[in-house]
Amino acid sequence: RRQFQNDATAKLQKPPLAFVFDIDGVLIRGEDVLPSAKRALAILEGNNPFGKLPYILLTNGGGVSEKARCQKLTEKLGFEIRPTQYIQAHTILKTLSSKYEDTPVLVLGGKLDQVRKVAIDYGFKRAYTSLDFLSWNPSVWPFHQLTPSETLATKQVDFFKTPISAVFVFHDPRNWALDVQVICDVIQSGGFVGGPYVPLDQQKNPVELVFCNPDLIWRSDFSTPRLGQGAFKEAFQAVFKALTGSEYPHVQFGKPTRATYDYATTVLHRRVQEMTGHPPALSSIYMIGDNPESDIAGANAANWNSVLVKTGVFDGGVPTHQPTHVAEDVEEAVTWAIGVEL
Ligand code: G3P
Ligand code: MG
Repeated sequence: RRQFQNDATAKLQKPPLAFVFDIDGVLIRGEDVLPSAKRALAILEGNNPFGKLPYILLTNGGGVSEKARCQKLTEKLGFEIRPTQYIQAHTILKTLSSKYEDTPVLVLGGKLDQVRKVAIDYGFKRAYTSLDFLSWNPSVWPFHQLTPSETLATKQVDFFKTPISAVFVFHDPRNWALDVQVICDVIQSGGFVGGPYVPLDQQKNPVELVFCNPDLIWRSDFSTPRLGQGAFKEAFQAVFKALTGSEYPHVQFGKPTRATYDYATTVLHRRVQEMTGHPPALSSIYMIGDNPESDIAGANAANWNSVLVKTGVFDGGVPTHQPTHVAEDVEEAVTWAIGVEL
């Protein structure tokens, strides 16, 4: 354990550095908190020469409300994690909801209707799920019968009168077959599932398709990485190309996209202001992640310092994106970064 002497003279009004933590593979693996995670946060919560330092969490995970996830993270990590410190894959969709406030949208991913509830809370007042389609017409996908809990999670809708204008993949889909089928139906029928397929070049307002997490793989508590939402996107685009001859244009959010890192920068600045009462004046931002493709690539492109840890997707060798520093775990990463700024 590395102890820092709290040095009152070293406490600075403006934090000289701030941290952005990835979650899966850095702080948590599956349901388990990594041993170094609590020690790393204890350092930032004041056990260092600069005093309490600002940090936020930036994950490609999601599926529940920011408030609910922060409550769980606070319990697990032993430090308060506020929604003002937390960004998940689909948080950025809050900035888009006004455009779709009263138009029907398809929201995918997560358990039962949890993502619908998140979407409605964001302002997507008419959010429907792929289970709603199955409830409306079981022959939409004949190989899955709704379970009692799925039936309870559905809304009764007549999709002949409810044209879908956009599809948002919030979180990792649970039934890839059903979800690929419904997306293909929505897009090819111009939003009217069950209606005739309209050639895409004849559609006046083609359906918008948005993915929130490009991760092909991620690190849970299995011995090797698991397929992520990016793998679902590959599956959908392969099927759509086989059906129509080309992939479907889509918008991509999540790490490493610029939109998500720009959004994270504003959230971090707001957090610094919340903590210090000062306009955000940061000299250095340190991103600590386990996935070179999402955490390191995005941080490098945002001109942040990037620290790659070996407790998740990356387990040694030459990373596909060169970090500022490689550390064994998140505690070593934090200690190294503070040492750089001393
Ligand atoms: O679904 C979560 C996974 O894609 C990665 O999460 O926290 O490593 O960005 P995280
Ligand atoms: Mg990760």
